[in-house]
Amino acid sequence: MKIDVLTIFPEFFGQVFDFGIIRRAKLAGIVEINVHDLREYALDKHKMVDDRPFGGGDGMVLKPEPIFAAIENLVGTNDRSEYPPGTHVVLLSPQGKPFKQAAAQGFADNAENLVMICGRYEGVDERVNDVLVTDEISIGDYVLSGGEAAAVVVVESIVRLLPNALGSDTSAGNDSFSAGLLDCPHYTRPANWRGMAVPDVLLNGNHAEIEKWRNEKALEKTKLNRKDLLIGENGDM
Ligand code: ADE
Repeated sequence: MKIDVLTIFPEFFGQVFDFGIIRRAKLAGIVEINVHDLREYALDKHKMVDDRPFGGGDGMVLKPEPIFAAIENLVGTNDRSEYPPGTHVVLLSPQGKPFKQAAAQGFADNAENLVMICGRYEGVDERVNDVLVTDEISIGDYVLSGGEAAAVVVVESIVRLLPNALGSDTSAGNDSFSAGLLDCPHYTRPANWRGMAVPDVLLNGNHAEIEKWRNEKALEKTKLNRKDLLIGENGDM
């Protein structure tokens, strides 16, 4: 997978993709990640990337021209119906669709080229959305100053799902959300510490019992913290 991040703050990304699973996936050739300075695509001599909103109001809006120029350069066209197969142009914005594990899995399974546009200021000229963007994504119901931190979240959640990104001893199959529930609790040594004992069932080597306990605890945790995950579309539990 090739990921291109478009931002007016390239320094923000510093070493953020140089640790752990993302670093390993990069070294193994599973993913290539490039960060691009949107300002380099600005057309005027002042390298302007933003301007005041038509109709008035606070803040500045990211101009369309630099973003169109960047997409033309990275994808080869400004018409999303002509993007090569497997190409997604993602806009990170609080107006986007809520990002879920299933969407991360969908990108990991099907996307080959991902371009992440980090929104900024009060917004991005809507013509970018109308013509270039295939997926407008929000990472949650809160407002960040820009899409940069959101892009890191989305990239990390996708890269760890790419084939062979996790070591052979690990798998994403038991992760929270992969089965629609939160993950169960985990323990490691010492088995008894400061009077807090690890549940006996985890020590007895009975895999069927351990599996049953983990399922029960996952359900308990989900009921406690995320009841919404258990409620069906018609409101049933
Ligand atoms: N930019 C600002 N807030 C955001 C959010 N919640 N998700 C994605 N991008 C954003």
